[in-house]
Amino acid sequence: MTPQKKLLNWYVLNQRELPWRNTRDPYVIWLSEVILQQTRVQQGLPYFEKFLAKFPTVFLLATAKEDEILKLWQGLGYYSRARNMHHTAKIVLNDYNGVFPNSYNGLIQLKGIGPYTAAAIASFSFNEQVAVLDGNVFRVLSRLFCQNEPINSSSGKRVFTELAQTFLNMKEPAHHNQAMMELGAIICTPTKPNCIECPLQNNCLANLLGQQTNYPIKEKKSVVKNRYFAYFHIEVNGYIAIYQRPAGDIWQNLFDLPLLELDESKTSAFWKLELFNKNWISKNDQLVLKFQRKHILTHRRIYADFYLITLKKRPILGFKEIWVKKSEVLQYGISRLLDHYFLQQHIK
Ligand code: ADE
Ligand code: SF4
Repeated sequence: MTPQKKLLNWYVLNQRELPWRNTRDPYVIWLSEVILQQTRVQQGLPYFEKFLAKFPTVFLLATAKEDEILKLWQGLGYYSRARNMHHTAKIVLNDYNGVFPNSYNGLIQLKGIGPYTAAAIASFSFNEQVAVLDGNVFRVLSRLFCQNEPINSSSGKRVFTELAQTFLNMKEPAHHNQAMMELGAIICTPTKPNCIECPLQNNCLANLLGQQTNYPIKEKKSVVKNRYFAYFHIEVNGYIAIYQRPAGDIWQNLFDLPLLELDESKTSAFWKLELFNKNWISKNDQLVLKFQRKHILTHRRIYADFYLITLKKRPILGFKEIWVKKSEVLQYGISRLLDHYFLQQHIK
């Protein structure tokens, strides 16, 4: 028996009785899917009933006052869902004569209906051969095939969309989609999948390898961190101080101007005092802000201020600095940020 057939047999016997499974009305299915987007079935059920009782058609929802809708939504959270739903209902009423498009391609054109909702309505209402992909389906597919693509990367989304479509039961797309979500909701749960009772246990690679809870893979979304650099272009008789950047930080082994880093941006007056305390400059030396730039790296946003200090005598900076001819500085490997600075200063 194909895994699709096993899944369907299981679903027929084990599905929960849910009101939106007894209809093919796209409006009702849309309503249920919007409610279930960020809400658990048990919490969403009473809201679904209340909404349908009050607004049984898209016409009644579209012509309702927003306040009324928000009042009914109270307690569900993510109120923008309710506002967007109202907005979409008005579009359906005004631009589509109150009739939902009857295909995935038509539905996805509607503002407020994304790929998941379009696939759900197209398959549940019109039995279109299009696979739905929600959190449950991602998890089930990821485990069935030990799919190593992260589910939250853009390439992962493509891979899983294709995988879901390949795994779709073309004879029973609507029931298959419901069954996949149901399996994810009650058997193939995030932390304790009940593989012993799973209809796909012999088809599931993760189960066969004992790797269930290592899937799905998620890509760590790195947080972009702000850094604040004060750069010092210290010039003595046509020579400037640079140093080679150490390991364990950005721009490893590239050459750089001496800099000071703080956890927030500071003014020239602050730096002047700082440099005076370090014996880099004396009281009467000038500190001139020449250039400011926000520089974006993959995991960093660098706010850089460049100060020019012109001195008569080389100070000891403690950077393992080397003094190079200003006209030759571009012969050293430097960051793109420094490139911009020197270009700005007409040092070529
Ligand atoms: N979660 C999202 N859509 C669902 C549906 N149609 N049935 C059960 N749970 C769901
Ligand atoms: Fe999920 Fe286990 Fe079934 Fe695999 S066998 S699909 S891991 S419940």
